[in-house]
Amino acid sequence: MTRTALITGATAGIGNAFARQLARRGTNLVIVARDTARLEQIAADLSSSHHVDVEVITADLATTEGVDRVADRLSESGRPIDLLVNNAGASLAGWFGTTAVEDEDRQLDLLVRAPMHLMDAAIKSMSGRGRGEIINVASVAAFTPRGAYSAHKAWLVNISQWANWHYADVGITVQALCPGFTRTEFHQRMGAEIADVPRWMWLKADPLVKASLRDLERGKAISVPSVRYKVLTFVARHAPAPLVAKIAQRGR
Ligand SMILES: NC(=O)c1ccc[n+]([C@@H]2O[C@H](COP(=O)([O-])OP(=O)(O)OC[C@H]3O[C@@H](n4cnc5c(N)ncnc54)[C@H](OP(=O)(O)O)[C@@H]3O)[C@@H](O)[C@H]2O)c1
Repeated sequence: MTRTALITGATAGIGNAFARQLARRGTNLVIVARDTARLEQIAADLSSSHHVDVEVITADLATTEGVDRVADRLSESGRPIDLLVNNAGASLAGWFGTTAVEDEDRQLDLLVRAPMHLMDAAIKSMSGRGRGEIINVASVAAFTPRGAYSAHKAWLVNISQWANWHYADVGITVQALCPGFTRTEFHQRMGAEIADVPRWMWLKADPLVKASLRDLERGKAISVPSVRYKVLTFVARHAPAPLVAKIAQRGR
């Protein structure tokens, strides 16, 4: 059966790896980001290489208008979305309390309000059809007390765990994907200093997306790709919070 996936933030990094891997499997795509030219280039490349339909939606997901446009597409009953990947994200370079509160508002809207609205639209539509899948791209940062970004990702992990259990009997699987440091455009865009992050801590987007899709097939509520981050998150979830906060100071 041909399926359709809607991926936010599909022009770079982890979202782009989802788009390429799903297209390779024959999944039709709806790809979302702010940069229309980049979206259209990716749509043309993927549809010609993999013979899938790729629809483009330009939307700033830190705005109500942008979120509504994507939520409306998720609600269209004639053209159902089988898999939603809530992936678009960015982070501020400074710690909460030193940044402009308007920038914190935009980050909260992008990392919490947008996935919340898109999940709401997707669950309502998928419930009617009795099936569907949602991947919420969170972070291992969700398991450490480390500022607003971690708190937003913790919200996503918590609601995904609950939704995976709550909607299982109507055929909906919800996963929180929790990557560690991943080589994408993320850190460059936020202007973060990453030179002192050890090489062993870096992941590549393609293997982690493969692991996420495998975990989705197994119905897992939380996917933490790679053995090293499985160990680190286990420690982070069981060690005293002040110790974890101290060790985790460095990155996002
Ligand atoms: N890289 C890491 O180390 C890491 C680790 C853990 C979790 N994550 C999470 O993984 C997700 C993807 O990050 P990434 O590393 O792949 O980042 P990335 O390479 O910077 O890609 C971010 C994607 O999101 C889109 N985007 C950013 N702001 C947007 C907005 N306001 N509205 C709509 N689209 C927007 C970007 O496209 P446009 O600029 O064209 O809009 C781009 O397609 C994020 O949720 C991030 O928090 C990343």
